[in-house]
Amino acid sequence: MFWDEVYKGTPPWDVGHPQPAFQAVIQNGEIKPGRALDIGCGRGENAIMLAMNGCDAVGMDLAENAISDAKAKAIERHVKVNFAVGNVLQMDRLFKEGEFDVVIDSGLFHVMTDEERPVFARQVHRVLKEGGKYFMLCFSDKEPGEYELPRRASKAEIESTFSPLFNIIYIKDSVFDSLLNPSSRKAYLLSATRS
Ligand SMILES: C[S@@+](CC[C@H](N)C(=O)[O-])C[C@H]1O[C@@H](n2cnc3c(N)ncnc32)[C@H](O)[C@@H]1O
Repeated sequence: MFWDEVYKGTPPWDVGHPQPAFQAVIQNGEIKPGRALDIGCGRGENAIMLAMNGCDAVGMDLAENAISDAKAKAIERHVKVNFAVGNVLQMDRLFKEGEFDVVIDSGLFHVMTDEERPVFARQVHRVLKEGGKYFMLCFSDKEPGEYELPRRASKAEIESTFSPLFNIIYIKDSVFDSLLNPSSRKAYLLSATRS
């Protein structure tokens, strides 16, 4: 599977620390202790940060090897996180409806196809409590250069995917830390609540 192959090495997003955009969200008090899910958690840095900030944290990802690495990392750091292998498009197989106070997404939405986007939004909506929060970081269409994967989203695309099911609080200019040069890539940070 593509994602397992990628995690045989160190992909550019696997920076070895939480994304600063999510650190800021926590520092600003936008995420309070509660039950929190990191979708497409990769090797788990952001999920571990949620747990270290008082959340009952769960991380899920399609890549089995990323999840075993994330589990090992959490044990090594003496942090309790539940990690699970699964497909975000089939989270009804993993989680109950309304199970989470917050869902974070660091680079998962932007790998979804046009057809997958509405399914993705419904699955995120389903696992959140009413009023639960969704924070999403994706590559922005302001990133210069030729088109490359993962795709870059526009604000209009983010709005059209999520506004049918969520109240959009903000879509801010942000950055992704990356191992590639330049190390910071232009991104959007979405804050939304489940309506
Ligand atoms: C760009 S990476 C970001 C990883 C991680 N959030 C981070 O910041 O290091 C996207 C992640 O989404 C995972 N992924 C891709 N498709 C998925 C799906 N359908 N369900 C769950 N995870 C998926 C990949 O395995 C990969 O770990």
